[in-house]
Amino acid sequence: MGVQIEVDQLTMRYGDVTAVDGISFTVAPGEFFGLLGPNGAGKTTTLETIEGLRSPTNGRVSVAGRDPARREPDLQRRIGVQLQSSAFFERLTAVEQLQTFGAIYGVPAARLDELLEQVGLTEKATAQVEDLSGGQKQRLSIACALVHDPDVVFLDEPTAALDPQARRNLWDVLRGINDSGRTVVLTTHYMEEAEELCDRVAIVDHGRLLELDTPGALIRKLDAATRIGLAAEAIALEDARGLPGAESVRLDGSGLVIQTREPATVLAELGRREALEGLSVSKGTLEDVFLDLTGREYRA
Ligand SMILES: Nc1ncnc2c1ncn2[C@@H]1O[C@H](COP(=O)(O)OP(=O)(O)O)[C@@H](O)[C@H]1O
Ligand SMILES: [Mg+2]
Repeated sequence: MGVQIEVDQLTMRYGDVTAVDGISFTVAPGEFFGLLGPNGAGKTTTLETIEGLRSPTNGRVSVAGRDPARREPDLQRRIGVQLQSSAFFERLTAVEQLQTFGAIYGVPAARLDELLEQVGLTEKATAQVEDLSGGQKQRLSIACALVHDPDVVFLDEPTAALDPQARRNLWDVLRGINDSGRTVVLTTHYMEEAEELCDRVAIVDHGRLLELDTPGALIRKLDAATRIGLAAEAIALEDARGLPGAESVRLDGSGLVIQTREPATVLAELGRREALEGLSVSKGTLEDVFLDLTGREYRA
């Protein structure tokens, strides 16, 4: 596997504030890479440095082996950027926005129709941007970032402020962009989103890289307990506490929750006692990884 993006000991200071503090990672061609962290973690600063919008205070960044801060046109053509706050031209329709961006690169009209289709906005082509929903605006700004057919696409919190349905719809669009062979670098503060979309995830906080791995490996490394849920009447609380392998048992609004690192033992015993009513089993999530790394609730 080659290297599409290399970030080496990147440090960024704004006056007294160290926004990024010695972060290193690489992204392979075609990878879906996530920068995950709470507000203020340094995600946007890292991304904007890779995009060539900022020059590092210290350290080095390269994209396709070149320095993005030099803003060479042939490198610019290969990257597509969706900024955290996207601005549109006023009083233009969706398709006119795209045409305006397309004209800069001499993109044919057929390609613009294809793009609208790809982001699910064909029916909104002639709608004023002001009349689009939050999710539709995000999809339009992604289409604008793709207009010149870049190899590498940067998306800064594309699903922030979207409702869960619109977020999921956008996930399909993002997956499609990566499936077409592009490298995607996404920032998000939604763990679930990183877990769902990313091949690898860098967890950052206070400008530092805390962990970097596949979501699955991060979760396995954490060795989070399995949660076994049961209907409250499935088994008496005292009996559940006595089950071999049960680490903790509590009663919450929806029933009994047993935490265990030996789910097979607990489940076998529950089966033997015919105490499986309302059974659900869930493993740890990236949310648990973050809590474990930082020792605190997620600041969304
Ligand atoms: N232009 C700026 N001037 C001063 N401080 C900034 C600037 N941009 C960001 N910061 C600070 O740098 C830190 C990281 O910000 P940012 O990269 O935007 O984080 P994130 O995208 O993870 O929310 C924060 O403490 C933020 O307040
Ligand atoms: Mg940000």
